[in-house]
Amino acid sequence: MNLKLSTYISEEQIQKKVQELGDQLTKKFKDTEIVAICVLKGSFMFYSDLIRAIQGDVHCEFFGVSSYSGTSSSGEVKVTLDLAHSVEGKHVILVEDIIDTGLTMNYLKSNILSRKPKSLTTIALLEKPDALKVPCEIDMVGFKIPNDFVVGYGLDYDGYYRNLPYIAQVQNFQ
Ligand code: IMP
Repeated sequence: MNLKLSTYISEEQIQKKVQELGDQLTKKFKDTEIVAICVLKGSFMFYSDLIRAIQGDVHCEFFGVSSYSGTSSSGEVKVTLDLAHSVEGKHVILVEDIIDTGLTMNYLKSNILSRKPKSLTTIALLEKPDALKVPCEIDMVGFKIPNDFVVGYGLDYDGYYRNLPYIAQVQNFQ
């Protein structure tokens, strides 16, 4: 894929924010085991950096959902990989890449809450407040961004650009 990209959030800015979020989680869950759920695929890079920034016992779980095709959300959430273990009675943190319409996060929250965790903390690296179609409360957000399509650091455009270490905007769309 050969689209023109411009840096939106640099690798340094991301890493600084991840460390801040990790420090907050370390304080919040001092001496408490947590289960960190990685929402696949988009959050895998953020997740792997974030869990390394948390000091304490972290169990890793992976939850696959898909709701996007091209550059617009289909609004329909499909589970592509379920959790491997029960989270009942556990302190769970749910790690998502980006909140756009809010539909995916709302689906994820109700899905995880139905499994009766002891607590649920929701975290997203990015949020587009102007794109929300449904109210969606997130406990921790890295960066609020305008309603632009972004790629990199796990986020893709039709499968491309997930491996960029920074977040970029695609310049020559459509
Ligand atoms: P929502 O259900 O509309 O909030 O969409 C959430 C999902 O859509 C995220 O988990 C991403 O995978 C994807 N998504 C939303 N906005 C973008 C974007 O700007 N770039 C890449 N993926 C996005």
